[in-house]
Amino acid sequence: MLRTRFTETFGVQHPIVQGGMQWVGRAELVSAVANAGALGFLTALTQPTPEHLAKEIARCREMTDKPFGVNLTILPSINPPPYAEYRDVIAESHVPVVETAGFNPAEHLPAFRAAGVKVLHKCTSVRHAVKAQELGVDGISIDGFECAGHPGEDDIPGLILIPAAAEKITIPMVASGGFADARGLVAALVLGADGINMGTRFVATAEAPVHSRVKERLVAASELDTELIFRPLRNTGRVARNAVSTEVVSILDQGGAFDDVRELVAGARGRKVFETGDLDLGIWYAGMAQGLIRDIPAVAVLIERIMTEAKSLIHNRLGSLPA
Ligand SMILES: Cc1cc2nc3c(=O)[nH]c(=O)nc-3n(C[C@H](O)[C@H](O)[C@H](O)COP(=O)(O)O)c2cc1C
Repeated sequence: MLRTRFTETFGVQHPIVQGGMQWVGRAELVSAVANAGALGFLTALTQPTPEHLAKEIARCREMTDKPFGVNLTILPSINPPPYAEYRDVIAESHVPVVETAGFNPAEHLPAFRAAGVKVLHKCTSVRHAVKAQELGVDGISIDGFECAGHPGEDDIPGLILIPAAAEKITIPMVASGGFADARGLVAALVLGADGINMGTRFVATAEAPVHSRVKERLVAASELDTELIFRPLRNTGRVARNAVSTEVVSILDQGGAFDDVRELVAGARGRKVFETGDLDLGIWYAGMAQGLIRDIPAVAVLIERIMTEAKSLIHNRLGSLPA
């Protein structure tokens, strides 16, 4: 057991989170994470409608009796999904915790509070973490530049971001971005976090509902094999480097506009990568942590390994250093 403020506040056994992942955060993975004693998040917007989300929550409950949460990602969009309706499904389903991300969660907090749903807010800067803390969220997930998905525009890696945030954050905080093993967990605890959040590492597990070629690609890839898209649009995304990501970067670097890449970056194409295993069909998120991934274990094996090795690192490596 490794008890931290995070495990105490969120009622889970291990200080490990599986963050929301578009197309990946479904009941198969989230229930496996819950059954292994960590905190998994279903991804609300992977479900086509709020009604489908309610069914996915029920399906996950059939697969585990342990706590799990739902991720609500709020991103600027021309035709936004019905966020308030997804939020109400989350509140009414009484999952114990929601992971908010992408935008200031203020508008949604009263509904979550009224329903007794704790809020873990994921953000990529100290100032946004402080703002969320002031708004009254229950925990912060601080996501460094290494991460898959949206690292923000500040480009601050975890080695600086985590301790800088820890100086200002008094509520439980998990460190995110670039974590894949026990070394990362112990480092995060030393830097002032109460646990870790992982995305990319969980995609390469037996239960992740994605094609095996995606998992094998994560094992084969190095830390060099990600690419930052949408930099000129100030909406940066870290993705697996492939034919499409390279084309998108090239078009935008030559002065292209979003309309010039709209079809290339369509979510439906990224989804097909996970379904078919054709790695060049579209854009799919992956983080630098892929350079640390060597296998495709069952989730329970991964979590058990991280916890066992973390305890060994704490006692044998840190504990044996001369005073
Ligand atoms: C395939 C994939 C899809 C993701 N989709 C989302 C998402 O929809 N919402 C979100 O908040 N984060 C999303 N993320 C980010 C993760 O929740 C997490 O913050 C990130 O992966 C942490 O960095 P790591 O990949 O280095 O562990 C995604 C990550 C991956 C790998």
